[in-house]
Formats: sequence, structure tokens, C-alpha cells
Amino acid sequence: MDVNLSKKPLKWAELGFQYIKTDFRYSAVFQDGDWLPGSLISEENMLIHEGAPSLHYAQQCFEGMKAQTTQDGRVVLFRPALNSERMNRTASRLLMPEVPQALFIAAVEEAVRANYGWIPPYGSGAALYIRPMLIGVGENLGLKPAQSFEFRVFVSPVGPYYKSAGLAAISLAVSDFDRAAPQGTGSYKAGANYAGGLLATLKAQELGASEALYLDSASHRFIDEAGSANIVIALTSGELVTPSSQAILPSITRRSVMEIASQQFEMPTQERAIDLRAEFDSFAEMSACGTAAVLSPVGRVYFDSKWHIVNGDGYTVGPVMQKLYDSLVQLQRGEVEDRFGWLHEVEM
Ligand code: PLP
Ligand code: COI
Repeated sequence: MDVNLSKKPLKWAELGFQYIKTDFRYSAVFQDGDWLPGSLISEENMLIHEGAPSLHYAQQCFEGMKAQTTQDGRVVLFRPALNSERMNRTASRLLMPEVPQALFIAAVEEAVRANYGWIPPYGSGAALYIRPMLIGVGENLGLKPAQSFEFRVFVSPVGPYYKSAGLAAISLAVSDFDRAAPQGTGSYKAGANYAGGLLATLKAQELGASEALYLDSASHRFIDEAGSANIVIALTSGELVTPSSQAILPSITRRSVMEIASQQFEMPTQERAIDLRAEFDSFAEMSACGTAAVLSPVGRVYFDSKWHIVNGDGYTVGPVMQKLYDSLVQLQRGEVEDRFGWLHEVEM
């Protein structure tokens, strides 16, 4: 396909995190035990059987990635092989066929390339969000896996996930609901985990928070994660810690931030259980992190019926999160050397 190299007339810097219909999406179908050749399509609506297991029993999963334009005009993905591995781990847990990594990467690249005009330009602060998804389709009634599956990749230009421009502190409210059981599906990117979180997010927002924060469901003491992002905490000791939990999504952003902290800034880092109430006073700075969230400093946390300030006045961004954020986004935008080899160029 010839790539149309002109950009769409969008106000890139004003984009929020919303679906914008782009020109193409990639679709491949798994049938009779094999993947059929996939292709780009223009139709965004899916025709799905009313009995499809994805609709009734949530036999589906998804991924979230971004393509960005670098300072020198390249279009890059961030560690896409890790998204492919995570999707396949989820697929296996939900008795869905794995998407071969070559198919996953090719589909993402094709969807990005075909929608060149929708990729936000360098310097706009926006990115092209990529949503790979795998769903069980076809006729079914009883509780059993689908016979056929669709793997689809659509894209949408997006701005910041939280309603604050640039790097500004967000707030989290500890949820009374549990997100995931210790041996449940919390560490998989299954849509089912998110349906249960909608009410928790709403309740957090009613308190004035940006989103819900979940504690571990066994003891309600230890930090698990936020509704759509993991948590990292800079302690007053100078250490950067992040919760170890079997019930949270293994975030690619978190893994990268921890690697930047230890390898670039030589900070001591540790993944361990973090007791919210017992340790709160030792929190110097806290952030939510994820593909959509990037690294969003958390200024205030609501628990035990009141707001608790993490640092400063609850709205300011601390120096540790500022430098980790700068390093991450500079790397993702190709403004500094890709010393970790994390960028994957999409040839246009
Ligand atoms: N936790 C949850 C529940 C998420 O939905 C996401 C988003 O993908 C993350 C964490 C962050 O993961 P990643 O950094 O791989 O995007
Ligand atoms: C992402 O960060 O990519 C996610 O999937 C989070 C989602 C809830 C928007």
C-alpha cells in the first residue's frame, strides 16, 4: 500500500483520550485451528454472532501501545514484543489461541503505517494509541471456549489520559471494591477485569479523585494498582519501590521506569509488598504509570475517610518523578539515545 504522507487537520495538542475513527484497522481470523491471512479493512463496526463467547462470558483480551513521531521524523513503537508476549499469556489463560508474534507485530505496523495521517507530529504531546484485541466469536450457548477468534488492531490519536495538561499531579481514592483475587485474572489484560472496575472508578471520581486505587483483596493492606495503571513510589530513603502482587497487570511502563531508575540514575529499586497505611509517611513521591497514563504523579490519596497528601501541597510534581518522566518521554520521542534498545521503528 502507498502511504499518504499528509497529516489530518486535527488540533493535536488539544486531544484527550477518546476514540477517533481512523481510516484503517487490521483484522485476522482464527478458524478450524489456524490463522487465516489477515488484512487491513476500513469498516470499524464488527458483525458478531449474538451467542459469541466474548459477549457473554468475556472470552476476550486486549493490549495498549503507542506509536510516536520522533524528533528526527521516525515513527516508533515502544517495546512491542512485550505487548505480544503479554497478549499471548492472557490468551492462554482464557483458552484462546496465541497470536504469533510475527503476526502481532506485522498487524500493528500495518495499522500504524496505513493511518500515517493520524499519527500526531513530533512536539504535539500527543501519540497514536494502538489497541490490539483478541475476541471469541461465532455461535455458542454453554460455557465453553469459542471455536473462532478475531484478532483486530485499531488505532486512535490521543492526548493525556488524565484530565490535566502535561505533567500535573493526579489523585487516587482507595476503592472499597476488590479488583482481583490473588489467584484470579488480575495479572492478565482481560476485559472482564475492567467491567468490575467501572463502578469503582465512578465512586473514586465522585470523591473528586482521578481514579480508583486498589489494595490487595486478601488483607486490604497492601497497594495493588490503580484502575488503569501500576504504581511506583519514591521513598524518603531515596529508594524507588513498586508493589509485588500476583493480582496486578505486569506493566511495561513500570518495568521500564524501574530500569531507568536503577540503570540510568543508579537509584536503589525494589519490587515488594507496600503497606499503604503503615508506610504512607515514608512516601516522598508517588506515580501511576502505564501506556495511557505515562508517568502521572499522584499528589493525594483518599483512604480511611480522608485525603492524605503525598508531597508538597498535593498538586506539585516532585523532582524524582519529574526526572523519571523526562527520561522516559525523551527516550520514547527519540530525543536521547535509545540506550536500552527499546524503540522499534515502523518503516513508512
Ligand atoms: N494496570 C492496568 C490495570 C492497566 O490497564 C494498564 C494499562 O495497560 C497498566 C497497568 C499499565 O501497563 P502498561 O505499562 O503495560 O501499559
Ligand atoms: C493502557 O494504558 O494502554 C490501557 O490499556 C489502560 C486503559 C484502561 C486505557
